[in-house]
Amino acid sequence: MNNIEKIIEGMTVEQKLSEMTQLNAAFVSTSEAEITGLAADFGLTRENVSALGSVLNFKNAEEMRRVQDTHLAESPNKIPLIFMMDVIHGYRTIYPIPLGLGASFDTELVKKCSALAAREATADGVHVTFTPMVDLVRDARWGRCMESTGEDPYLNCLMARAQVEGFSKGNPEPGQNLATCVKHYAAYGAAEAGRDYNTVDMSEHTLREYYLPAYRAAVDAGVDMVMTAFNLLNGVPTAVNKWTINDILRKEWGFDGVVITDYNSFGNTIAHGYCGSLEECARAAAETETDMEMMSPCFIKYGKKLLDQGVITEERLNESVRRILKLKEKVGLLDNPYGAADEERGAALFLSEESRAICRDAAVRSAVLLKNDGVLPLSENIGSLAVIGPYAKRGMIGFWSCHGTDNEAVDVYSGIGNLIGEDKLVYVKGANGTVREKPDDEMIAQAVAAARSADAAILCVGEEAKMSGEGNSKVDISLSEAEQELIRAVSKVNKNTVVVLFNGRPLALGNVVEDAPAFMTMWQPGTEGGSAAAELIFGRRDFTARLPMSFPYHSGQCPLYYNRMSTGRPKPWDDKHYAYTSNYIDYPNAPLFAFGHGLCYTEFEFSEPTISSSVMHTGEVLEASVRIKNVGKREGAALPQLYIKDVVSSPVRPIRELRGFERVSIKPGEERVVSFKISEDMLAFHRHDGSFGADAGEFRVYISKDGESGKPVSFELVK
Ligand code: NOJ
Repeated sequence: MNNIEKIIEGMTVEQKLSEMTQLNAAFVSTSEAEITGLAADFGLTRENVSALGSVLNFKNAEEMRRVQDTHLAESPNKIPLIFMMDVIHGYRTIYPIPLGLGASFDTELVKKCSALAAREATADGVHVTFTPMVDLVRDARWGRCMESTGEDPYLNCLMARAQVEGFSKGNPEPGQNLATCVKHYAAYGAAEAGRDYNTVDMSEHTLREYYLPAYRAAVDAGVDMVMTAFNLLNGVPTAVNKWTINDILRKEWGFDGVVITDYNSFGNTIAHGYCGSLEECARAAAETETDMEMMSPCFIKYGKKLLDQGVITEERLNESVRRILKLKEKVGLLDNPYGAADEERGAALFLSEESRAICRDAAVRSAVLLKNDGVLPLSENIGSLAVIGPYAKRGMIGFWSCHGTDNEAVDVYSGIGNLIGEDKLVYVKGANGTVREKPDDEMIAQAVAAARSADAAILCVGEEAKMSGEGNSKVDISLSEAEQELIRAVSKVNKNTVVVLFNGRPLALGNVVEDAPAFMTMWQPGTEGGSAAAELIFGRRDFTARLPMSFPYHSGQCPLYYNRMSTGRPKPWDDKHYAYTSNYIDYPNAPLFAFGHGLCYTEFEFSEPTISSSVMHTGEVLEASVRIKNVGKREGAALPQLYIKDVVSSPVRPIRELRGFERVSIKPGEERVVSFKISEDMLAFHRHDGSFGADAGEFRVYISKDGESGKPVSFELVK
């Protein structure tokens, strides 16, 4: 009998149920009064808490040790707690939010960032991160777009894999990698109206084709845990959904790691109207193969009763405990209850030049140049520069920033000052950066005065951390009236105005995009955001990123995504109105900035694509190619994107779908041919009869600069 089986054999049923529970670290406190208070609120006894399996929400290595020591002193079976945390886009040295990482279209970069976060977090006592969040997002009103890598399943799969690999294998040194937890299973990102925690209702086809692949990619990449979600899926809470958990995740995908709930999501099934009492939640929960519940006491309070009633078996409990113990063994806790916590190692890493350099590079590679009427890059010899806006001196750090703070970040003002000298800068706030802020005439007048007498103006507007992320959905994703007015007023008096956006979601820029000559988004770029912005603004580095989500003109276009279906009455893709076609009478259907869009400091001409054969027989591989010429004045990186459209199928397929991309550096005047292989598996899809495969017939291939442009070449799949 191995060690784990011996431990399980020595555990009582009650201890097993506690092992299957995760509570805030405060429950396992040194103060007796606190333990009794918190636990009593949950209806738990000291014994319940003393055999707890895991905690979340703790501060650092010191607290981890204290909590672990308290636990081990009281624990009947002496199994160490496993400590989990939301290490999402950095731990102390912060890199761009995941939506920004998605924009990088660069999996190596994502691995590097994830490995950095793992190094820092393990030093501070973290064993598991609740990452990657791979929810497909199509509605920019949803605040949690910032945690996702965007609207495309193909890109999300690559990013899911990169994060799992980076966090869990990115560091060669033992003890410096984190176990990972993919979330929120399943389809949490499809919340109706983009309102967080809201209902999700979708066909099995849509679920399997677009929403499930990224969770699956994480599972295939070896993710250790899966977190279920808060939402209803077709009338059943995902937290207790036997179909998604037992049938798909466990049986179909063979996932044998730990399944954990989200924060009290078992308890939430009462508010959903699915369970009438906590005991009913426990029963529904026990029927799923969930191993650990986060911040609810269903297993602890009702597990024994369910066992006595024969609803669950002890072997079912053993299986869950076995999975949890295996995870503890994997992260080294069965040998050393403190894992790899090491304050000295942490101190050397946190905010170190090396850590900052990784974050700076990531911020540069995540920033997207949306529009540039020749203003950018600015010359470093500029005489004077007005740096304006609420986010010129704050707002670099995104929602899930662990221990990163804005105070430790380089803001835009300092970043530019470090590069060209602060004596050339004038700073004016211009607006306060609050939600739905109205223009303040005095503040705008000050900004206008500063801009009028400067050679150029940098306008930092958008959203700060608390305007996106969990619970922070919006009805209106345009800039506040104050910021819109600021853009108009400043651009009027200074033709060299550059709008630098900070945002945790796509913004609707339709009513300001014509007002300023240049727009770039930094997302929420992290600790080195201001330095990265400066390097880009002055052209020391060029833009390489592309949008991972479509930017609408207007909030009312949401949900908006490039891989949509054609209607039966499609309209031409221009901004005219056509009677009795699928369109709006006041705005275009098209996005303002398409998925995949992103400019740089040179220009590329793409030829129409060619294909090696107009027929593909089963087993054959075709090659589609494009000629790309750099017609600008400096070297730059093109990012040709391969899209495929299945012309006739059942069920119908989107108007196009991303199937590949490649970054190529091209010198001025140089021309490069980029080719993509196309095989039958890239044409496959889920059919209504449950099968998965490609249908014979015509396919169109685009190799384009974004998800909306370009002319296709066709081929036929013959089977
Ligand atoms: C709730 C969030 O939905 C989830 O993403 C997070 O991991 C947990 N809270 C734990 O903080």
